[in-house]
Amino acid sequence: MELDPRLWGIRSMLSRVRHKILVLSGKGGVGKTLTTALLGLAAARKGLPVGALDLDVTDPNLHVVLGVDPGREWPGERKGILPVHVAGLRFMSVAFFTRGRAAPLRGREASEAIREILSATNWGQLELLLVDMPPGLGEEMLETLKLIPESIALVVGTPSRLSRDSLARLLSLLAENMPTRRILLLENMARGEAVLTSLAREYGARYIGSIPYDSRVEEALGDPSRLLDTGPGKASECIVEAILDYLSS
Ligand SMILES: Nc1ncnc2c1ncn2[C@@H]1O[C@H](COP(=O)(O)OP(=O)(O)OP(=O)(O)O)[C@@H](O)[C@H]1O
Ligand SMILES: [Mg+2]
Repeated sequence: MELDPRLWGIRSMLSRVRHKILVLSGKGGVGKTLTTALLGLAAARKGLPVGALDLDVTDPNLHVVLGVDPGREWPGERKGILPVHVAGLRFMSVAFFTRGRAAPLRGREASEAIREILSATNWGQLELLLVDMPPGLGEEMLETLKLIPESIALVVGTPSRLSRDSLARLLSLLAENMPTRRILLLENMARGEAVLTSLAREYGARYIGSIPYDSRVEEALGDPSRLLDTGPGKASECIVEAILDYLSS
């Protein structure tokens, strides 16, 4: 048994967060950060109390997508650290504490940073908390899955054959080692027909929908309302509906 008091702090801080969703991927650059932002913004636009947390502790960049400057905005404090509000979304990131500087972390140090931020952030009452993770099957993912055992895994994949093997490895790891974990699969940068549905079926994951590729995303980065106007933004509204349906079934 572990005697880290932060474990108690994490339970307490997350006790009023109804659904915790960890956004994961096998391979990097598949769109976890973009989809975390879009799903959060789309849910906030619907009026849901929703939070987004950047747990990519060595390379946080969710603030770039959301247009938050961690050098200028600063979370408040009241019974913990308070998330910053952006377009109706409550947002927290390790970038507020590193102020954009590099944060090289070795082995367990990344887990320590994750424990600190999870135990210190006071989200208040939330319906959904979306957690943007670094890619791969490393320490950060395993630690966060352990710290939030009730969390749902939202795995992001692309139709590219290059990313399909690592996607299959991640899905099989989750299915074999965490058979009770609920797993959703989101296809990003989709080109026409859905191609990941059979992979989802094979590993017992729920295929939750697809987000198209849209070259207008690049110039909309940092501007929440423009982002929601892109193809991926509109698709995210449907994905939020599908996730809410899934959670209520
Ligand atoms: N549907 C899309 N349409 C257009 N561009 C996209 C789409 N999804 C992601 N991108 C772009 O692809 C790049 C990678 O996306 P993103 O940073 O969200 O991936 P990631 O999985 O978080 O990467 P990392 O593994 O490094 O954290 C970004 O430039 C992003 O704007
Ligand atoms: Mg990312």
